[in-house]
Amino acid sequence: MSEIVYLNGEFMPLEDARIPVLDRGFIFGDGVYEVIPVYSRHPFRLREHLARFKRSHEAIRLEYPMTDADWTELVGELVARNRSDDQSVYLQVTRGVAKRDHAFPKGATPTVFGMSGPLSTPAREVVEHGVSAVSAVDYRWQRCDIKSTSLLANCLLRQVAADAGAVEVVMFRDGFLTEGSSSNVFVVQNGILLATPKNNLVLPGITYDVVLELAQVHGLAHEARPVSEQEVRAADEIWVTSSTKEVLAVTSFDGKPVGSGKPGSLFRRIYQYYQDFKRTVMRQAA
Ligand code: PDD
Repeated sequence: MSEIVYLNGEFMPLEDARIPVLDRGFIFGDGVYEVIPVYSRHPFRLREHLARFKRSHEAIRLEYPMTDADWTELVGELVARNRSDDQSVYLQVTRGVAKRDHAFPKGATPTVFGMSGPLSTPAREVVEHGVSAVSAVDYRWQRCDIKSTSLLANCLLRQVAADAGAVEVVMFRDGFLTEGSSSNVFVVQNGILLATPKNNLVLPGITYDVVLELAQVHGLAHEARPVSEQEVRAADEIWVTSSTKEVLAVTSFDGKPVGSGKPGSLFRRIYQYYQDFKRTVMRQAA
């Protein structure tokens, strides 16, 4: 059974989905997207993902082409038409098809695309051993808060990690931590969880919010403030978070062990809280 996708009002097998080459998503990367994890066929934090999706549209002055109710229905259809119980739903809207000109076209219809594939959350051994990361200078633009499909810099940076046999880059701009190529980064220092503040230099992660909510609920000391590169290099723990990675411990950074070189005690707690929280939310949705 092939994957069923949605394109401009119709569901179809992935291999039948076609877009014109003049689509501004293809020509300019002029579009925005979302990735929504689905557990046991229930989308996780859908409202929050859609709110961010809408903000991304507003930020690039792109018409939000459907209502939240329509998106919710579309996500439900994609999940129902695809095989796995746990899925990763991808939504993308571009500024549509128009003669190549950088300025916005008049009257173009946004291209709306959705697909869903199996969600593979990190395997038990990966969670238990942690992953490696390498540092990189964050040379992306000044609007990393927009979930834009213009991801060339993120791809180049992720390849730096891949070339080093690492899972992610941990990026710094002007001596301060920003995020990973496709994840947010937290550090633990002297028992305190440090999160980068939300600003134009990082994506406001949905998982980031869940982690901070869980820290709050379970009384873990935490702070959102600028984190210097020295603090990251001296950290007891480093974590990366995203909708597909959930929460992962970075146990090797630039080839050196982080803390003891094993996932730290705060990581183990937050990982468990995250799994419990997911289960509770899914039970309530069922
Ligand atoms: N990426 N920062 C960046 C640059 C990201 O691309 C992502 C997610 C995150 C984490 O956001 P969230 O917790 O909402 O997934 C942070 C997705 C998964 C992707 O591009 O595939």
